[in-house]
Amino acid sequence: MDPLIDSYGRQITSMRVSITDRCNFRCHYCMPADGLPWVPREDILTYEEITRIARITAAMGVKKIRLTGGEPLARRDPHILVKQLRAIPQIQSIGLTTNGTKLDKAAADLAAAGLTNLNVSLDSLAQHKFFQITRRDALDRVLKGLEAAKQFAQLQPIKVNAVAMKGFTEEEVIPFAEFSRTQGFIVRWIEFMPLDADQIWRKEDILTGAEILAILEKYYGALIPLPATYSAETAKRYGFADGVGEVGFINPVSEPFCASCDRIRLTAEGALRTCLFAQEETDLRSIIRNGGADADIETAIRGAVFKKELKHYIGDTKFRRTKRTMSMIGG
Ligand code: 5AD
Ligand code: SF4
Repeated sequence: MDPLIDSYGRQITSMRVSITDRCNFRCHYCMPADGLPWVPREDILTYEEITRIARITAAMGVKKIRLTGGEPLARRDPHILVKQLRAIPQIQSIGLTTNGTKLDKAAADLAAAGLTNLNVSLDSLAQHKFFQITRRDALDRVLKGLEAAKQFAQLQPIKVNAVAMKGFTEEEVIPFAEFSRTQGFIVRWIEFMPLDADQIWRKEDILTGAEILAILEKYYGALIPLPATYSAETAKRYGFADGVGEVGFINPVSEPFCASCDRIRLTAEGALRTCLFAQEETDLRSIIRNGGADADIETAIRGAVFKKELKHYIGDTKFRRTKRTMSMIGG
């Protein structure tokens, strides 16, 4: 079958699937304090519907799938979906991005079902700052979840992702680096993007990867750049002189990686998005629930991908916010 290629020649090999828009956190850079109106359950794709779409995209070259939310572990039995996706021969990796609060209970089932990559979002290692950003007092639960997940060899190495914000993240940089060095997690900072419900984002609020690297190098001396593990890798990886620990920077704002983007996204209610900041989406759920054939779904996906956005324009006058927050898209 023909590969999935957009009008700029980028081939799609990775799909991020949100399995729920619900979340038990209210992170400032994502959700308002009161939460958002949740999508009604009957409008959310079933695991069978997700698997069907995944099978069709896999036949066109998608090799990597990542499950996200909202908080994906807020949905019942996500390991059942992992198992179904695992049965698709072309799928080489299945990741999950979680806030970690339910990980202590879910880790064993996920590992047994064949999850290959685990990312845990954690913005601060200090209790009061964790509360300040997430509006929930749950640092201990997340650390407990990480500890539980560490017991499963299949899930290693676990990545800990922190959103980097000026005036917040600076004093977290060395503690996180030490967290990587002593606990064996890969820590990655992601530049704050304008995807927050409260619309507080300002360009001045980003703490860039280069600024974080400078903080690290002042403390540790020069870090060692590590090679990308695959061509569309978004993180710039660094090791330490003694070989212990790994950190990385995902710099979508200061160093956009749109030119090598290989991704599409499926929202919990079955809308295909070809960019985090897409203004348009393609409703695959209607096609499925109106009795569409695989070929109809394939045609819709190819059509959407052909119109994939060139880039996100953050920081440019051309930039337009999307109506969705990160929780409604799926990181
Ligand atoms: N900017 C950058 N990252 C964000 N995330 C959520 N909102 C934003 C934002 N506005 C992150 C979460 C999680 C991942 C899914 O996306 O912290 O790590
Ligand atoms: Fe929930 Fe993730 Fe949004 Fe935080 S960033 S509120 S954990 S969906």
